[in-house]
Parts: sequence; structure tokens; C-alpha cells
Amino acid sequence: MLSLLSLSLLATAALADWSGNVNYGSPSYLHPALGLSMPKVVKRHSGNASYMDPASLSFTHGVASGDPYPDSVILWTRAAPMMDNDRSNVTVEGTVPLYNHDTKEYVRASSSPVCLTYEVASDSHMMDVVTSGKAYTSSDIDYTVKVEAGGLEPFTQYYYQFCVCGSNNKSPLGRTKTAPTADDDTANVGVAVYSCSNFPNGFFNSYGNAARKDDVDYVIHLGDYIYEYNTTSEKRVVQPEVEIHTLYDYRRRLATYRTDEDLLLSHSKFPWIPVWDDHEVSNNGYRDGSSGMNNTEDSFEMAGGVSVDQRKMNAVRAYFEWMPIRQVDMDNNLRIWRSFSIGTLFDLIMLDTRNYDRSITTLGWNDEYVKDISNDAGRTLMGSDQENWFYRSLVESNERGATWRLIGSQIVFSRINQTASWATLDLPLNYDQWDGYMANRNRTLKTLYDNNISNNIMLAGDSHANWVSDLVWLDEKPYNPSTGSGALGVEFGGTAVSSSGPCDEDEPISACNEISRGLIRDNEELQWNEGWYRGYFELHISKEKIDARFFGTPSLQTRNGYEVSLANFTVVDGANKLSRPVGGGLVQDGALQGGNVSGSKVTVDTNDGRWFVHNFTRVTLETTY
Ligand SMILES: *[C@@H]1O[C@H](CO)[C@@H](O)[C@H](O)[C@H]1NC(C)=O
Ligand SMILES: *[C@@H]1O[C@H](CO)[C@@H](O)[C@H](O)[C@H]1NC(C)=O
Ligand SMILES: *[C@@H]1O[C@H](CO)[C@@H](O)[C@H](O)[C@H]1NC(C)=O
Ligand SMILES: *[C@@H]1O[C@H](CO)[C@@H](O)[C@H](O)[C@H]1NC(C)=O
Ligand SMILES: *[C@@H]1O[C@H](CO)[C@@H](O)[C@H](O)[C@H]1NC(C)=O
Ligand SMILES: *[C@@H]1O[C@H](CO)[C@@H](O)[C@H](O)[C@H]1NC(C)=O
Ligand SMILES: *[C@@H]1O[C@H](CO)[C@@H](O)[C@H](O)[C@H]1NC(C)=O
Ligand SMILES: *[C@@H]1O[C@H](CO)[C@@H](O)[C@H](O)[C@H]1NC(C)=O
Ligand SMILES: *[C@@H]1O[C@H](CO)[C@@H](O)[C@H](O)[C@H]1NC(C)=O
Ligand SMILES: *[C@@H]1O[C@H](CO)[C@@H](O)[C@H](O)[C@H]1NC(C)=O
Repeated sequence: MLSLLSLSLLATAALADWSGNVNYGSPSYLHPALGLSMPKVVKRHSGNASYMDPASLSFTHGVASGDPYPDSVILWTRAAPMMDNDRSNVTVEGTVPLYNHDTKEYVRASSSPVCLTYEVASDSHMMDVVTSGKAYTSSDIDYTVKVEAGGLEPFTQYYYQFCVCGSNNKSPLGRTKTAPTADDDTANVGVAVYSCSNFPNGFFNSYGNAARKDDVDYVIHLGDYIYEYNTTSEKRVVQPEVEIHTLYDYRRRLATYRTDEDLLLSHSKFPWIPVWDDHEVSNNGYRDGSSGMNNTEDSFEMAGGVSVDQRKMNAVRAYFEWMPIRQVDMDNNLRIWRSFSIGTLFDLIMLDTRNYDRSITTLGWNDEYVKDISNDAGRTLMGSDQENWFYRSLVESNERGATWRLIGSQIVFSRINQTASWATLDLPLNYDQWDGYMANRNRTLKTLYDNNISNNIMLAGDSHANWVSDLVWLDEKPYNPSTGSGALGVEFGGTAVSSSGPCDEDEPISACNEISRGLIRDNEELQWNEGWYRGYFELHISKEKIDARFFGTPSLQTRNGYEVSLANFTVVDGANKLSRPVGGGLVQDGALQGGNVSGSKVTVDTNDGRWFVHNFTRVTLETTY
């Protein structure tokens, strides 16, 4: 009896170590048939007392942290015997990849597990350790490790490090920060907001600049963290050299991106709160497909035998393996929509307007049709589960008295007549954005107006240009574009980290500013637009106001610290609009309603054969904790 009891205790303890790596639970603890069965993974590895030689293992892709709660944070690393990724396509438990005809057994390429410990400390010398633990990883999950470090103090900075068990083989040092408690009313918070990082297009200087300046607490990523295409460039070779479809492909692609030094720097310094957009799976995705494929026999063949649904499963699984994100519903691995209470200062509501349950979008050949149905009441960007949760979250955030509501949306929310840019008079709006789902937008605005919810800040990516608007219900509620009255918040849409914008970067900035002038002429609520620069923005959030600072990174051809201050905006508590004069009346480039553009003054050689006529600041490349 006693020995039986201690045996089962031992088994429970062993299982606890294994399940410490939350990636083993993804996509679902509750449906082992959809993912990995823990007891079977443990059984497969338990006969092997000898783990891999610690010296053969490397921390191939740095460290990362994310999804901060007041008492815990997600920590991530990869510890592997190889730089390459696991090639199995296991998605259903039991479908092991390689069949050995001699032994008549399924075998795995590399079945020895890797044992790791981790420590979290209050100091960068890792002297004052506040929590620690153990976790395993293996080829089943591409040697990724994701643990939830708990028992932490709110709104506190910590350092963390992984180590291969029984050795001195340590990961790089990471730094992270927990969230304030929901009732904390003292915190001031800074966030850097990103979207659209295309690796072959150029270096991710935007990630590095915010990390080097070290002015923010958290990073928000609105998606298009990777791109699925088979495009590469001489300086930035992207793997694998195919359009990605299989689990291996997605793992390999994420791993390639996670070699950019500035991306690694950002991950090691800030906790991230990411969501995916379309390219984490495939361009212009929606619930049932994406622009490149029609979910037909033909597209199945085109994709090397991977169906549209299987491809999405592969993408989602690799995303959860590689991103420092919580799976908030273990019974629903497509769910990344989730929210964070950051003191009484703000609630951050992160949406999935893309892959979860979106009605059909523009696919290139059906755009006229999507325009025709764009005002249909039955269309949704999110599906009813998520929509109900979204509206409830807005109301509850207001009821609990959070000063601000920040809503992370992949795509631009405001109506934008883009005729002056790339659109045509026939198709004046971008129906892949909220403009293609007007009923969903109306329901959102109605929730805000009906419940008298103010201080709403929409954040958007996806578009590769900067769009700053008063948040308004056009044709429904009165709005005065010169004073801003009638609005119920602000939208900040940011440009891409490196994906191409509406203007060729070799064209003069003045030509791009001309397009922006057309855009602000045709859209009264669009107060600032700019399309030439790649970059990001920071929000500095206090009870009294939000300061938004937009930055441009002039050259992506080298890793450099150059950046331009493009524009600054303020939103005052209770004002529900951009402070006037918008942008202080003066921005660097683009076009500003009723304001001025300072334009070019000073010549700077960015050291790559191209020169610019703007005032740059240069953030030093050296970095210390
Ligand atoms: C132990 O590892 C070897 C090689 O890695 C594998 O062939 C064998 O099946 C494993 N044994 C058990 C019991 O899992
Ligand atoms: C994984 O899937 C790809 C594409 O279908 C296929 O080429 C490859 O052989 C598969 N790998 C394994 C180990 O089954
Ligand atoms: C992908 O692109 C590379 C480099 O341009 C090319 O060599 C390769 O043939 C392409 N692969 C496919 C499957 O098209
Ligand atoms: C998808 O279907 C449309 C309409 O039939 C067609 O024009 C398009 O070429 C198809 N695309 C693919 C990749 O099969
Ligand atoms: C969009 O703007 C153009 C001018 O660039 C105008 O002719 C057109 O009527 C506008 N369309 C809509 C739907 O507002
Ligand atoms: C959404 O609101 C606009 C402005 O009032 C209106 O024109 C449109 O018909 C509404 N659409 C739906 C589906 O409610
Ligand atoms: C709406 O909220 C504001 C404060 O945010 C308050 O002053 C006003 O009385 C409220 N109006 C209604 C109709 O509840
Ligand atoms: C934005 O504000 C910063 C100070 O925080 C200032 O240095 C910068 O010049 C401003 N940028 C613009 C375009 O006004
Ligand atoms: C724009 O510049 C003009 C000329 O310098 C100036 O009179 C005007 O006040 C400026 N506008 C704003 C909004 O600052
Ligand atoms: C650039 O810097 C110079 C000198 O500091 C200043 O006079 C000029 O106004 C600046 N130009 C812009 C566009 O900010």
C-alpha cells in the first residue's frame, strides 16, 4: 500500500515536471486526440535515464517572456541539439513520423528528452532568486520550452535564466515585468506597438530601438510577426525556401525570424503581448481559407498535400510553441483573444479579427462581391463568441472604472476612403479591414455609445502606413473634425516594422506626402497619415493623458540605430479625441489636418549608400541591462 502510494506520488511528480512545459498541453489538455498525450510522451521517454549530453545542447533562439499577470509571467526558450527544427508532422497523438521496417516500430528522429531548470531573480546577477523550477522538452514540441513563472510581485521587474539540468550550460539572461494588480491606481505604463515584420525586406531596427531606449514596460504586437511567402533576399535569407505549409515549415520560418538580433533583444528585455494577423497563417486569411487557396482539391495539390485546415493547424501549433503567449482556453487553441487588466489605468483587449471566425474576406478575385456584402448584418470579423466577449469586456472595463480601454485590433477600424492611394473609385475602401464588416463595426460603436463608454483607444497594424484618427461613427453621430467633438476615442494605426508601404522607399518622401494629403482631404476624421516610413509607436499612459510618439526607421538595409521622430499626439482623460492642435500643429512628414509638415532639413548618410534629408537621432547599438 505504502509503496504503491509512493510510486504513484513519484509518477505524479514526474508528470508535473513534464507538464511544467505548457507547450505539451497545447493545443488541448482536454482532448489528447488533438494533440500530445502527456502520459504517452512521458512513457516514451521514461525508460531513458540518460538525457542528452548537456554540452551538445544550445539555446538556439534566445529567451522571451510575455503575457504578464500581476503574479506570473510566461518565460520561453529553446534548448536543442540542433539549429534546425523538428521535421515530424505529428498533430494527432500516435501519428509518429518515421516507421522502421526492421523493428516494425515507429521511431522518432531524436527521442531523448532535454531537462532544464529556470530561475527568476530580482537582480541581474541572479543572486536573489525568488522562484525556480524544472521543465522538460523534446522533439515533440521542437525543443521549445514555455513555463509560467508564478508567485511574483505585481508591477515588478525580474530577471530570468534557463540552465540545462546538471550542467553550467545557461541561456542568455532575460528581463521581464509583471502587470500591476487590477486595483492598483498608481501605475504609469509605457508600451511599444508593432506590426508587420517581413524578414527578407530588411533589418528589424524598430524592435531594437525601443529596447535600447528602454522607455516602455511592455511590447504589444498586432500581428504579421512572420510572412509565409517564398521570398528571400541576398542579405536576409529566409528558411525554408518554399511557401510554408507543413508544421516543419512554420517552425523553421519562426526560427529564421528569431535570429534577427534586434528582435532577440526586444524579446529578452520586454514581456510581449502578441496576437497573430493573416501572415502567421496565410495572406488575407479568414475562417475558411486565405487568398492563395480555395479549399479545393486543386489547392490541396498546390500545397503539397496539405489542406487549408491542416495548414492552419500547423501554423497555430508552431505559433503556440514559439511565442511567449498564454493559451487562455486550453479547450480552444484557435483562441488568442484575451484581455489584461493593467491596474485601474487601462484594460488591454486583444482581438483576433483574422483567423478565429471571420466571414469571407477579399481574396483578389472576389473583391467586388465582398464590397457588395460589406454592409450585411450577418457578417462578422470575430464570430459571435468573441463578439459577445468583446462587448462584455468593454462594458465590464467601464464598470470597474478603468480609466482607458486599449483595443488591439489587427486591422484599421476607421472608415478610410483610400482612392487617393492605391484604391480605385470602384473599390474605394479596403474591404479586408473593418470597412468590409460594417455591421461588426456598428455593433462595436453602438456598445460604446449605448453604455456611455469613453476613453477608447483602438490600436491597429496590418496596413503598413500610419493612420491617426478621432474614433467616430460617421453618418450616425455628429462629428466636428476641427474640434473633435462627437468622437468617443482615438485610433492609432501604426506602420510596419519592415513590410513595404504604399510608397517605394527610393521615391522622394514628398511624393508620398502628396498621397497623404489626398487621404486626409477625403477622410475628415483622419487627422494624420504618413506612408513612407517603416517604424513603430510608443504610448505613454497615465491617468491624466496618453502621449503617443510615432517613430520612423529610415534605413533597413543595415542594422542601425537611426530613427526619426515623426509625430506626437496627446489624448486627455475624458476628452475622447486627439488634443488640438492635433500633433502640436507640426509633424515631420505625411499630412496633418489643419497643421504643418516640417519636411526635410538636414542630410544624413546612413552608411549604406543612401542618404536622407531629415533630422535623425541615433540610438546607440550598445545595450546593457
Ligand atoms: C530510449 O531512446 C532510444 C534512442 O533515443 C529509443 O530508441 C528508445 O525507444 C527509448 N526507450 C524508451 C523506453 O523510450
Ligand atoms: C511532413 O509533411 C510534408 C508535406 O506533406 C512531407 O513532405 C514530409 O514527408 C512529412 N514528414 C514526415 C516526417 O512525415
Ligand atoms: C523559392 O525561392 C527560391 C529562391 O528564389 C527558389 O530557388 C526556389 O525554387 C523557390 N521554391 C519554390 C518551391 O518555388
Ligand atoms: C479560386 O477561385 C476563383 C474563382 O473561381 C479563381 O478565379 C481562382 O483562380 C481560384 N484560385 C485558386 C488558387 O485556385
Ligand atoms: C472617395 O474619395 C474620392 C476622391 O478621391 C471621391 O471622388 C469619392 O466620392 C469618395 N468615395 C466615397 C465612398 O466617399
Ligand atoms: C452601420 O452604420 C452606418 C452609419 O449609420 C449605416 O449607414 C449602415 O447601414 C449600418 N450598417 C449596418 C449593417 O448596421
Ligand atoms: C457619461 O459618462 C460621463 C463621464 O464619463 C458622465 O459625465 C455622463 O453623465 C454620462 N452620461 C450618461 C448619459 O450616463
Ligand atoms: C516629439 O516629442 C519629442 C519629445 O518627447 C521631441 O523630441 C520630438 O521632436 C517631437 N517630435 C515632433 C515631430 O514634434
Ligand atoms: C502652420 O504654419 C503657419 C505658418 O508658419 C502658421 O501660421 C500656422 O499657425 C501653423 N499651423 C499650426 C496648426 O500650427
Ligand atoms: C533639423 O535640425 C535643425 C538644426 O537643429 C533645425 O533647425 C530644423 O528645424 C530641424 N528640422 C526638422 C525637420 O525638424
